[in-house]
Amino acid sequence: MSEAAERVREFEWRDQDFKFLAKLLHEKTGIVLTEKKKEMMYGRLVRRLRALSIKSFAKYCEYLQGASGDKELGFTLNAITTNTTDFFREMHHFEYLRDRLLPQVSKQVSLNSAHHFRIWSAGCSSGQEPYSIAMVMRSILGPAARNCKILATDLDSNMLATGKFGQYDAEKCHETIPRTYLASYTKKVKDSDGDMVMMKDEIKKLITYKQLNLLHDWPMKGKFDVIFCRNVMIYFDKETQDRLVRRYATYLKPDGILFIGHSESLLSVSDVYKCEGKTTYRLLP
Ligand SMILES: C[S@@+](CC[C@H](N)C(=O)[O-])C[C@H]1O[C@@H](n2cnc3c(N)ncnc32)[C@H](O)[C@@H]1O
Repeated sequence: MSEAAERVREFEWRDQDFKFLAKLLHEKTGIVLTEKKKEMMYGRLVRRLRALSIKSFAKYCEYLQGASGDKELGFTLNAITTNTTDFFREMHHFEYLRDRLLPQVSKQVSLNSAHHFRIWSAGCSSGQEPYSIAMVMRSILGPAARNCKILATDLDSNMLATGKFGQYDAEKCHETIPRTYLASYTKKVKDSDGDMVMMKDEIKKLITYKQLNLLHDWPMKGKFDVIFCRNVMIYFDKETQDRLVRRYATYLKPDGILFIGHSESLLSVSDVYKCEGKTTYRLLP
């Protein structure tokens, strides 16, 4: 950035402030913020400084180290996370679920059975991923889907609130949700933003939303049949990625499946997973 451009900034943004914040956020979330992200970080945090009437990033860094620091960190993390998502993003994973995994489950899970098929959407953002899973599950298993459980976790509390609410822009939903699912599992609503689509309760009930930092302890008991961790690890360094995918292995049932994002790879953990197809991995015995 040129000196002239620096002069027109609303808040002073020194290199040392960027480095302090990048280090703190890396420690807390695993997200790597390189110099290239400096402008993005300024843009995402500037509203927070205004809201707090803080006059510079140096003062904001001090604030984060002060008595209100722990509470403030939640706002900083919510501002920094990249939450891009969509219904049925990377469709091949939902096709795999629909055509390969769920038909087998439907033989075991009946209305009264205690068999629980468990799926974890790790880094679920605003809910489009777990809702896509739930719609596929309901369409294949019928009412017996209620014996299946989807856990949806994210670090960002704003995203989890959107997910729990389950209401999305109608135009976007019409572009991304297959028509039969849209007709069966959603209803039309209107609010101040215009036409919206609301997930029906029968779909919402299949999902439990929880805040979870993937770098911290995982309190879940029991193992999962499928884990979706897509487009989350790309923000982490290699070491954190490796640790995470090895940790997922300990939370998968025998033969469990891990879906990852299109630009992620599990080459370094081929001792733990076998590639089953595009970004689809099966736990090795
Ligand atoms: C780009 S979104 C991916 C959403 C969805 N999985 C998809 O593929 O469409 C990445 C999500 O990971 C979450 N995230 C980033 N770091 C995290 C961490 N340390 N623990 C839990 N979630 C994290 C972000 O809050 C964000 O919602």
